Amino acid sequence: MASEWCIGIIGGSGLYAIDGLEDAQWIAVETPWGDPSDEILCGTIAGVKVRFLPRHGRGHPVSPTELNSRANIDALKRAGCTDILAISAVGSLREELEPGRFAVVEQFIDRTFARPSTFYTSGFVTHVSMADPVCPRLSDMAARAVAAARGKVAVGATYLAMEGPQFSTRAESRMYRQWGADVIGMTAMPEAKLAREAELPYALVGMVTDYDCWREGEAVDVAEVVGQMQANGALARAMVKNFIAALPESREPSPIDTALDDAVITAPDEHD
Ligand code: ADE
Repeated sequence: MASEWCIGIIGGSGLYAIDGLEDAQWIAVETPWGDPSDEILCGTIAGVKVRFLPRHGRGHPVSPTELNSRANIDALKRAGCTDILAISAVGSLREELEPGRFAVVEQFIDRTFARPSTFYTSGFVTHVSMADPVCPRLSDMAARAVAAARGKVAVGATYLAMEGPQFSTRAESRMYRQWGADVIGMTAMPEAKLAREAELPYALVGMVTDYDCWREGEAVDVAEVVGQMQANGALARAMVKNFIAALPESREPSPIDTALDDAVITAPDEHD
């Protein structure tokens, strides 16, 4: 049955606010997983409910390893979100994905290792499918929203999630290219896994800030990354506005809304 959209926007480095939000109010959301990165900015754009969470908090106090992605995703769910559009600064592992380009992510390689990555710990064992980790409907709409803002967009990117906070070595960067990764970042995992466990369709747009360090003699320069992040901010805000404005009037169900239906292994009498 069709229903209303309520879009969660997770803003990455360089995107700490969104434009055109009416009746905007920062609201604190409590979760059993602890505190999310910040309060959630709730409001509407063109009549659509929007919930904005700056992934690293206002002023960027939260490092990638310290991100409480369980609290972030749970808080967005509790705030009523039906779907999540996540935005993240990324390094490029491909010549053709130059700084300033936006890459819509289709696949992930998760190399994070120091972060809780499931809502389902012992007593309630769940193995949700991550074969197709993003929502194609949202990803298509995101790609169109970038193009409508006259941004350069690439689709079908594979995102390598690294632990950080240090950048990669050259050997790692070159290995990730051989593995087929296109962009690299420190934040979208386990966020995407947790969104799936929360049955929230999720799309990720990577805003390219640098070429990582696979190119001979080049290394990531934080000043350049920050400069490019700021340059990417205006396009990101325009993309968000276009994305919301172009949503169909009502929301048809997604198969991801029921992703857990076949994922729970623990016998029903063990978890009632
Ligand atoms: N975020 C932006 N650029 C990055 C890079 N080169 N590696 C990891 N995360 C990044």
